Amino acid sequence: MNELGMSPRRATIVTGASEGIGAELARVFAWKGHEVVLVARRREKLEALASEICSKGGKAHVVELDLCGEGAIDVLEKALEQAGLTPEILVNNAGFGLIGPTAKLDQAEQLAMVDLNVGALTALTLRFLKPIIATRGAVLNVASIAAFMPGPNFAIYYATKAYVRSFSEALAEEMAPLGVKVSCLCPGPVVTGFQARAGFDFSGAMSAMKASLVSAEEVARQGYEGLVAGKRVVIPGAMNKFTVAFARLAPRAVLMPILAFAQNGR
Ligand SMILES: NC(=O)c1ccc[n+]([C@@H]2O[C@H](COP(=O)([O-])OP(=O)(O)OC[C@H]3O[C@@H](n4cnc5c(N)ncnc54)[C@H](OP(=O)(O)O)[C@@H]3O)[C@@H](O)[C@H]2O)c1
Repeated sequence: MNELGMSPRRATIVTGASEGIGAELARVFAWKGHEVVLVARRREKLEALASEICSKGGKAHVVELDLCGEGAIDVLEKALEQAGLTPEILVNNAGFGLIGPTAKLDQAEQLAMVDLNVGALTALTLRFLKPIIATRGAVLNVASIAAFMPGPNFAIYYATKAYVRSFSEALAEEMAPLGVKVSCLCPGPVVTGFQARAGFDFSGAMSAMKASLVSAEEVARQGYEGLVAGKRVVIPGAMNKFTVAFARLAPRAVLMPILAFAQNGR
């Protein structure tokens, strides 16, 4: 019950909902009847998505927030309270990558990547786990196929995603007896704002691959369905499943030079 004696409504929080995979995840949850809370820094993009969702009969709220800013999670918690919402599902999607040799990439940017991909994801999960347990809700964490292997020339990004997968799988085991589902969505390359932010040159091999890549919409659909089905790890696309299987089986001495070459100057 809130201060007015009313039971709070249940909400699905989607971080990084202003574009890309997060925006598609927000759409899927909204179309499935969830009241969504859209979180990111670019208010105009969030408002455009919220209007789209509401115009089609869904329910959406906007919280403009830098998840790495001071007191960010307090701000989000307060916004939920004021809207009469309690977190039932947390979709930890916000994240970015940086391609290039670790010694050459900007140090502050690399640390900011750890803050968002690992720090904010963990802090959000810890803060909202209690109400999620109380509502027998769910957590959907977005990792990557990068979570299954070390990534030379993309090292810290891959390491952050290995953390997300490890944390998610362990939490899934802990939460299962409490009726809370935890799923880790592991996409391969998806054409979004991610590549420009990471510093990819899209004119080469990646560009040729574009047609065969899984879309953000399809990744979101499979992520939602995987969570509902209780799958702990979801890897959309046959090619991505093959890549993960290869990475698991191939000796590191073979895999590392291939990845270092493939990610050199992309
Ligand atoms: N695209 C791929 O190839 C790919 C592959 C595997 C996994 N992934 C993962 O999928 C997730 C989504 O990536 P995407 O491809 O959709 O990238 P994207 O299009 O660049 O979207 C990233 C989202 O994160 C938000 N964000 C970034 N920094 C933030 C901050 N400090 N506080 C709050 N929100 C922040 C951005 O919104 P604002 O800029 O408005 O804040 C944006 O909505 C990431 O975790 C990424 O690692 C992507």
